This record gives sequence, C-alpha cells and structure tokens, in this order.
Amino acid sequence: MSVDSDIVCGPIITIDGPAGSGKTTTAKELASRLSFRHLDSGALYRAITYALVKEGIPPERWISLVDTDLDNIGVNVSLEDAKIGICLNGEPLFSELRTTEVTECVPVVASLKVVREWLLGIQRKIGMLGNLVADGRDMGAVVFPEADLKIFLVADLEARARRRLLQNFVVSPSPEEIMTEAKIIKNRDFTDTAREFSPLRRPKDSFELDTTSLSFEEQVSLILSMAEDLTTI
Ligand code: DC
Repeated sequence: MSVDSDIVCGPIITIDGPAGSGKTTTAKELASRLSFRHLDSGALYRAITYALVKEGIPPERWISLVDTDLDNIGVNVSLEDAKIGICLNGEPLFSELRTTEVTECVPVVASLKVVREWLLGIQRKIGMLGNLVADGRDMGAVVFPEADLKIFLVADLEARARRRLLQNFVVSPSPEEIMTEAKIIKNRDFTDTAREFSPLRRPKDSFELDTTSLSFEEQVSLILSMAEDLTTI
C-alpha cells in the first residue's frame, strides 16, 4: 500500500461497538454519504484468519506467529478507486471473509498481540489520508485516538441477534433462532471484552448511541448530523 503525499488529509470518524450493533453497515453508509473511505477493520482480522486457514497453518501454531510470518502471509490493502480493498496475494477478498470457519476462528487471531500490532501500522497509514469512517472494536480507543468524531454503537442483545439473522437472510427468525444467535453474540462480546490486548471498550470521548429502537435511516442521520459539526467537512 502506498500513501500519496499530495492527498489532502481530512477528518476521521470512528464507529466502535459490540458484535451485531450495526457498525459496519452504518459506517459504510456514512462513508458513502460523506464521500469518505470506509475501513472495515474486522475484515482485516478476517483476512489474516482466512490466509492462515488457507495456508493450512493449524490454530495451535498461531500463538507463535511473528511479524515476518505476517509480512509473508500475502495479505495487503489496496487504496485504488477511493475504496479500501483487502487482498490475498493480489486477489481481492469478499465472501471468503464471511465463512463460518473464518467467523469461528477470527476471535483467536484478533486476540494475538503480534496481529494487532501488525494491523495497527496498516490502519494508521490509511488514517493518514483522512476522510475516513473506520469501524471496529478499538478504532476510537487505540487506532485513531485523535479521531474527530467517535461513536460507540450499542443495542439490546435481542435486537442485535435479530439484525444478524436478517443480515444472514433469515427472513422471519423464530424465538429459538433468536435465542441461539443471542448466545453466539454474547460469547463474542465476552471474547472481545475479556481479551488482554485492545479489548472492546467505549472510548471516554465517544458518543454512545443506543440503536435498539432506531431505524437504520434514523441512526445514520443522527451520526451525519454530528459529523456536520466537524468544521472541515
Ligand atoms: O466485526 P467483525 O465481526 O468482522 O470482526 C471480526 C473479529 O475481529 C471479531 O472477533 C472482533 C475482531 N475485531 C477486533 O478485535 N478489533 C477490531 N478493530 C475489529 C474486529
């Protein structure tokens, strides 16, 4: 990834929150309306996980990964076309990042210090370009502590489970399906908040937005109205 020095820097907006709180869809829409880039940091952790699984490196060896292993793993970011593309050996990654296997393994990879530090450099390089909406778990607290606007999205566990199922094309989820999904999300919340390195925390200087009873349009509009206060936008 190369960063052109003639690109004008602009604001950074961070959107953090627990699993299923709607961070990524909200950040994507916000970025599109502001003509900003969108960084889905979860996709970076997923890309490394996918690469490890594809290379056949077994989970018991992940704890011993070092920087140079990550340098050689083939994951990189492209910034062409105002979009942030995530590639493996030059090939863009899309649905590969959302498989059940990757989703199950990624919390382990995201808990590794070496992975978080390696990705920190990449994320901050993207941030140097400004005009960015970045979503994840530690965007406001660790990666972009100087961000211009920090949002922390929350929603009831049941609402998050329902949204996740709808996202996965379960049109009318039954109470049992919602309960099962809620358990999965609760476990992910625990893993994200209990890990040693960069656990999920609400940044002190963030605005907490409870989206349980907000429509998608309402939550995007609310954040947009906060973003309008940024003088540089
Ligand atoms: O948001 P997601 O489900 O795509 O995130 C995938 C995993 O990466 C999940 O276990 C949380 C973790 N993650 C993280 O630790 N820090 C981030 N900034 C983004 C995601």
